[in-house]
Amino acid sequence: AANSMWGGRFAAGPDAIMEAINASIGFDRRLYAQDIRGSRAHAAMLAAQGIISDSDAKAIGEGLLTVLSEIEAGDFPFRTALEDIHMNVEARLKEIIGEPAGRLHTGRSRNDQVATDFRLWVRDQCDAAIEGLQALIRAALSQAEAGADWVMPGFTHLQTAQPVTWGHHMMAYVEMFGRDLSRFQDARARMNESPLGAAALAGTGYPIDRDATARALGFDRPMANSLDAVSDRDFALEFLSAASICAVHLSRLAEELVIWSSAQFRFVSMSDKWSTGSSIMPQKRNPDAAELIRAKIGRILGATVALFTVMKGLPLAYSKDMQEDKEQVFDAADNLMLALAAMAGMLSDLTANRDKMEAAASAGFSTATDLADWLVREAGLPFRDAHHVTGSLVALAESKGVDLSDLTLAQMKSVHDAITDDIFGVLGVHNSVASRQSYGGTAPDQVRAQITRWKEKLA
Ligand code: ARG
Repeated sequence: AANSMWGGRFAAGPDAIMEAINASIGFDRRLYAQDIRGSRAHAAMLAAQGIISDSDAKAIGEGLLTVLSEIEAGDFPFRTALEDIHMNVEARLKEIIGEPAGRLHTGRSRNDQVATDFRLWVRDQCDAAIEGLQALIRAALSQAEAGADWVMPGFTHLQTAQPVTWGHHMMAYVEMFGRDLSRFQDARARMNESPLGAAALAGTGYPIDRDATARALGFDRPMANSLDAVSDRDFALEFLSAASICAVHLSRLAEELVIWSSAQFRFVSMSDKWSTGSSIMPQKRNPDAAELIRAKIGRILGATVALFTVMKGLPLAYSKDMQEDKEQVFDAADNLMLALAAMAGMLSDLTANRDKMEAAASAGFSTATDLADWLVREAGLPFRDAHHVTGSLVALAESKGVDLSDLTLAQMKSVHDAITDDIFGVLGVHNSVASRQSYGGTAPDQVRAQITRWKEKLA
């Protein structure tokens, strides 16, 4: 049979495969709450403007609430033949309230309807990401506070570079997640305009009030161009872009946790709650959650690339290509929220092994730069010369299989005679980090100042 929504022009129904490729109800049912909210706002506005009667608007509003409760109770009859969530809801409304249901779609199109629903959904996901990031930042802050002066090796090229503190390392992620949070805030603010009332593409001749529906849906204002309103998905691309950057940050912390929890590092011990065992190797404690978080960037960036590719080159205004936006965003959002929650939980339950980190920080000639700086400060050497002298001292220590601080004063003097006993003071890792007082440096005072700033910011 021909479609009940546009059957007037059609003699025959669609091919079964046409129905399969065309239908989006399998996934866009997730927009049901936004769809019903948008329709209720639209119907109320139509009545306020005298476009439909108050009694019809009342029947529509109440009927939509019935539909909502049916869906939430899990006994809504979703029908593939009705293509998408918009037509499923409207058709069911008609079954419930009869003729007035046919007046709901006055001055509206599925094009502005879906753009509105999807914006509302993505806006909620921005809020969820912001909340998830706040919880994660709090977890990282607690770690930073507990270990603001715990020394660990800082790395470049994953080779021991200079000592830093655990607190400083955690705060580096706080900064990254803080920028992620602000990206979701920015995206939310930009997307918060209402497409509703753009109709199919050109606007409508009915005397609608777009400000009223925008206000009812919590948008700041109606979108200013009806073609733009129905045809752009930049809000979804911004969400995905912010999600991708955030997932990159998550993957780096996840990777560090994988490395640090290995037997070779043991900088951290993961709680049982966030580890798995092996069915064959009894000794194993695997960091599966961290590995999965590390992997999430794959699908989130995949979704981002997919939607960019769908949108590229589409002529204005609506094209059905755009129906391919939702699954990508749904999947990316679900996985981002899961990864944020898992990382926050894992970090909260994580034990940093202070002694292991400090022992590692003291090895690997991590204070060689401090030694070179001492030669500059105390012996007046140009930095390049000091670098050279220190390199020779490292080579000497390495040839003897000892640390810099294990060399005798006589051995040091044999490399450069300006060296005095005083040098041993700078070879300790605690002195090293305490000396890094430049703004943003790893000195515990600096780290604590940043922790305080963030706590005030989150309060
Ligand atoms: N299911 C469609 C989508 O997701 C709704 C809009 C359909 N509009 C149209 N003119 N066919 O994009």
